[in-house]
Amino acid sequence: MAVARFRSILALKTRVLIVSLLLLNSTFSQPAAGFGDAKRRNMKEKVRQMFYHAYENYMAYAFPHDELKPITSTFTDSLSELGNLKLEHLPQNYQGSALTLIESLSSLVVLGNNTEFEKGVLWLAENLSFDVDARVNLFECNIRVLGGLLSAHILATDSKNRLERGIYQNQLLDLAEDLGRRFLRAFDTPTGLPYAWINLKYGVVENETTETSTSGCGSLILEMGALSRLTGNPRYENAARHALQKLWSMRSSLNLLGTTLDVVTGEWIEYSSGIGAGVDSFYEYLLKAYILFGSDEFWDMFHSVYLAVQKYFRHGPWYHEADMRTGRATYWQLTSLQAFWPGLQILIGDVAAANASHREFYHVWERFGVLPERYLLDRNVLHPTEKYYPLRPELAESTFYLYQATKDPWYMEVGESIVSSLNRYAKVTGGFASIRDVTTMQQEDHQHSFFLSETCKYLYLLYDDTFLAGQNYIFTTEGHPLPIRSSWHEKLPESYIPHNWTRVKNEDDVLHVSSMSLQVCPVTVPENSGRGVESACHIPDNHVDHRCRTDGECGIDSTTCRQRTCSIAGYCGLWVFID
Ligand SMILES: *[C@@H]1O[C@H](CO)[C@@H](O)[C@H](O)[C@H]1NC(C)=O
Ligand SMILES: *[C@@H]1O[C@H](CO)[C@@H](O)[C@H](O)[C@H]1NC(C)=O
Ligand SMILES: *[C@@H]1O[C@H](CO)[C@@H](O)[C@H](O)[C@H]1NC(C)=O
Ligand SMILES: *[C@@H]1O[C@H](CO)[C@@H](O)[C@H](O)[C@H]1NC(C)=O
Ligand SMILES: *[C@@H]1O[C@H](CO)[C@@H](O)[C@H](O)[C@H]1NC(C)=O
Repeated sequence: MAVARFRSILALKTRVLIVSLLLLNSTFSQPAAGFGDAKRRNMKEKVRQMFYHAYENYMAYAFPHDELKPITSTFTDSLSELGNLKLEHLPQNYQGSALTLIESLSSLVVLGNNTEFEKGVLWLAENLSFDVDARVNLFECNIRVLGGLLSAHILATDSKNRLERGIYQNQLLDLAEDLGRRFLRAFDTPTGLPYAWINLKYGVVENETTETSTSGCGSLILEMGALSRLTGNPRYENAARHALQKLWSMRSSLNLLGTTLDVVTGEWIEYSSGIGAGVDSFYEYLLKAYILFGSDEFWDMFHSVYLAVQKYFRHGPWYHEADMRTGRATYWQLTSLQAFWPGLQILIGDVAAANASHREFYHVWERFGVLPERYLLDRNVLHPTEKYYPLRPELAESTFYLYQATKDPWYMEVGESIVSSLNRYAKVTGGFASIRDVTTMQQEDHQHSFFLSETCKYLYLLYDDTFLAGQNYIFTTEGHPLPIRSSWHEKLPESYIPHNWTRVKNEDDVLHVSSMSLQVCPVTVPENSGRGVESACHIPDNHVDHRCRTDGECGIDSTTCRQRTCSIAGYCGLWVFID
């Protein structure tokens, strides 16, 4: 297939968008050869049972409290504990917000249970109130509660008529707006960067900490943006957008950001960062905001920071941390949150790089049985204290994206192994327990709400993606689907959303051409060379020592767009030769 030698920037951007959309649409699903239909149905049934085991135990023993304690069959009102490592300022008279129910609603729809979805929606409509004296983490409350409510509202009102006629009067949207209004008080700072914590009833408490994380103030735009689009009130989106712009203005000359900062002074506290905790969803929301809203501003930020990440953090399939000011490596650690990154790379068509990293994460999963929270790459040992696995979804999420992009049945086998580990190590009579220590598989009495909103959902979608048919969605960082609508989108005319992307996929062969590298360098390799352009800032994955053998392995330099060459010592670079 011939690739045009030059495409206008707009065409390239459209292409990135097309790749993103097509990967999330299932209408081109083909049964995976090698993973038979009966096996697929069997896996789907297993995941369904996992979800209901978690959900029904929550409903029986914890609802309307926040989360289930599956070993003792009791509950925890954990909303104020999320992100609250030192468990400070915990509420006295807080009775829970049905957090796990809110998180389960979109999963119930993905599983096709409209009856239970309707019951949940009506219960919340009548009984949920945010006028509670509870100090919550803005980020956590945004992705779990606001995102859960908005997604459920959209699913309740879309054309599929999931609810009995006339029964739903936008109550979840009213609740979401009530919550959004409470959030706005956090943004009242000299910089416009929001406080990390807010008391739902009283606003920012006296002497509140001014420290927040990059994710904390840089991943609010999807939910706050959706809230503005749905209510017609631009204040929510504006607040989130201004915070993002301010944060971006704090980047270093290398286009890197740190991990923690002060919302009053606008100064960095922790200069080291990577792709994991404290930063992860910041990158994710830049790209997803571009896909959802189409504003070039988001794309430009994402584009720059993606290149910087690939350049300064990537080492073969791994990502270490680096100092934002110098780009020098700081910590060589694998964390289980980083496993989301391949899924994000799929959205820009960087399939080869995604595949390579995903394989490494899966090897770690296989070695331990689940993914440990932190592994020290430089010393090749587990982190001494962070040995836990709290039922995190990231590997399942990436597996789902890679399967959607490639239809390679191998990813269904990965899903099978994840499901089998979860049932073997985490399932208890009363639900699914977290793993406290992956070396002993000792359990902990906590079933996190994201197990229902994400882990089970992505695993289910791997085996049955009927939900995605006929509609393009992006998933928030908490796994709540938001539809791509032309009315929310700056440039997407209706005709750009065909119901069937098969043609596009075949023509452009996204498996081998990275739209990202096309975006970075609008040149292609010689037409008869038989290989596509690979990832931006390419570092060879082909050999265990990550050293190159030939120029061809070095890819194209992202700043000059020139072919890089392989030095005698095996390093890729833009070596200057004197004629
Ligand atoms: C919907 O969920 C309820 C509660 O878990 C369950 O009893 C019911 O069987 C489910 N319905 C379907 C169709 O799966
Ligand atoms: C609201 O909660 C009360 C008390 O738990 C319950 O009786 C009522 O049925 C709930 N409302 C709905 C619509 O489920
Ligand atoms: C806030 O800090 C000031 C000064 O340190 C102190 O006097 C005051 O008691 C603190 N207020 C609260 C509610 O902790
Ligand atoms: C992923 O990597 C494996 C092993 O390197 C390779 O066999 C497979 O073809 C790759 N798949 C894609 C889609 O790149
Ligand atoms: C998608 O469109 C192509 C060509 O227009 C057609 O051949 C194919 O059957 C369609 N696929 C589905 C699943 O509708």
